[in-house]
Amino acid sequence: MIQRKLEVTYLPFDRSTRVPPGTTLFSAAHWIGLPIDSTCGGRGTCGKCKVRVLGDPLEVTTADHRQLRQDEIEQGWRLSCQARIYEDIRCEVPQLLRVPKAATMGLGRLVILDPNVRKVYLELEPPTLHDQRSDVVRLRDALEVEGHDMVAEVPVLRSLPTVLRSADFKITAVLAGEHLVAVEAGDTSGECFGIAFDVGTTTLVGTLMNLRTGMAAAVRSTLNGQAPFGADVISRISHAMNGAESVDELRAAVVATMNQVIAQLYAEAGVGADRTYEAVVVGNVTMLHLLLGIDPAPIAVMPFAPAFMEPLAVSASEVGLAIHPHGFIQTLPALGAYVGADIVAGVLATNIARDEKLRVFVDVGTNGEIVLGNAQRTLATAAPAGPAFEGSQIKCGMRATDGAIEGVQLSDKVELQVIGGDVKPVGICGSGLVDAVAQMLLAGILDHSGRMRSREDVPHHPLADRLIEVDGVRAFSLAEGVYLTQRDVRELQFAKGSIATGIKVLMDILGVTTADLDEIFLGGSFGSYLNPESAKIIGLVPPVEVDKIIAVGNSAGEGAKIALLSYRERQVAFELPSRLEYIELSGRTDFNDTFVEVLAFPVLETVS
Ligand code: FES
Repeated sequence: MIQRKLEVTYLPFDRSTRVPPGTTLFSAAHWIGLPIDSTCGGRGTCGKCKVRVLGDPLEVTTADHRQLRQDEIEQGWRLSCQARIYEDIRCEVPQLLRVPKAATMGLGRLVILDPNVRKVYLELEPPTLHDQRSDVVRLRDALEVEGHDMVAEVPVLRSLPTVLRSADFKITAVLAGEHLVAVEAGDTSGECFGIAFDVGTTTLVGTLMNLRTGMAAAVRSTLNGQAPFGADVISRISHAMNGAESVDELRAAVVATMNQVIAQLYAEAGVGADRTYEAVVVGNVTMLHLLLGIDPAPIAVMPFAPAFMEPLAVSASEVGLAIHPHGFIQTLPALGAYVGADIVAGVLATNIARDEKLRVFVDVGTNGEIVLGNAQRTLATAAPAGPAFEGSQIKCGMRATDGAIEGVQLSDKVELQVIGGDVKPVGICGSGLVDAVAQMLLAGILDHSGRMRSREDVPHHPLADRLIEVDGVRAFSLAEGVYLTQRDVRELQFAKGSIATGIKVLMDILGVTTADLDEIFLGGSFGSYLNPESAKIIGLVPPVEVDKIIAVGNSAGEGAKIALLSYRERQVAFELPSRLEYIELSGRTDFNDTFVEVLAFPVLETVS
């Protein structure tokens, strides 16, 4: 559904943007790269974010009354973090963040280092007979002077009296948002860590981030411990459908894997759980359901309505993750049942929805998640690609591990690139498959309909002796015991046809053509290894110049890191579902028509 957007203009910069109703002036400014000053994380307690609204006065909030003088309010000053936009608006910004600390993240993006976790060193006045404020009030008052609100739960309060007195009331308060996570003796403000997790169906990547410097302290990845329950999300959901115990089995498996990664991160960086206060977790919708022990069954059945797609902040002890027991796990939102928080994180990392350039972002996997657009309008969808790209249902297919052919070059001979270096090839993984088919097309071994030629068709071809038959099916021999059959080519054709259709449907909705595209981003663990030229030759992506096709690496993990380092960027991620339009492909009549149109491989004369 397309939402009415409102125009907001910031002076003296004369910069405008269009936002959904209800967006704050603070957040809308950040979208267009104007970081308004703040030290409280947009919570209405530091008073630094005030702007002067021109024209009709905005409603006055309680925070405005607390932070602003009456004459300021009368002159139109408001706290931009509290002021929500419900009509076109112009405002004056007196102060942007001065020389912000920043880190380069994602695709060379400069991200302001402003984490949700803050450490505040305080030297409190010890109580006296004349000052019998409770410990909590004493702490809250001191934090308020520094511009912070505080909510303290009982588990944290249990240690408060002892820590305060043993440390002579010189302590460091740790806040995640307004939640008090810990009170530590002395000044520990230099030690502040968080973990960014990309929980993939196959692989899980964890990065321990130093929240003070914005640098990664350690990175580890491992296979998702849910693998014995099935290779893809649908088989995991099928297992979960066996009942609550099965859901719990899957939950425990992924939590155990994450804790194994966490232990390795701590060991490598010499950091402990007591200094790691937050984890930002992204993943597809099914992975996040299973991590939280929530039944994912509705994701697999029409009308594909999951239990949740909103961002959730859950206590670490509730989830069972080995960070600080009073710390938090923050998930990012999803756009649809099959366009999850991993894609939202990818959009955050690549900045597609805030930039003027028109881009396609494709995460190639069992599902091809596709995002198309720019700052004006952005669409997202998921196209069911099947398992070919993961090397499944391919006769000699395998995952991208040692012995897998990952690159193919055909001339008058066959040259192979095999994972593990100088090892005997034992199968072919997704990127090798795409390369092989592209090269077979170029070599004239496949025609553009996808039909494989036989040795009799091309008797003088230098690779004619590679054309064989396996169980009565035409095949092309890549190495001893490793070949590609006609059926494998059809599987790949189906997979690329589905993704190409998704891209075409989005381009048609947006009314753009290939010539309008500035860049194509290939993301996800598989997309990053794809040869862009081969992706273009097989017609997986529109035929733009090859240097416009860019592998963006683990964009989901980058997005999680960005959301960990900057609460402003986290807010952008939270707002993406209201900014992006999710297009459901199932049931669209143009899907089938377009699929038939793009199923064949492109005629090679058109490929430059
Ligand atoms: S009051 Fe601190 S950001 Fe608005």
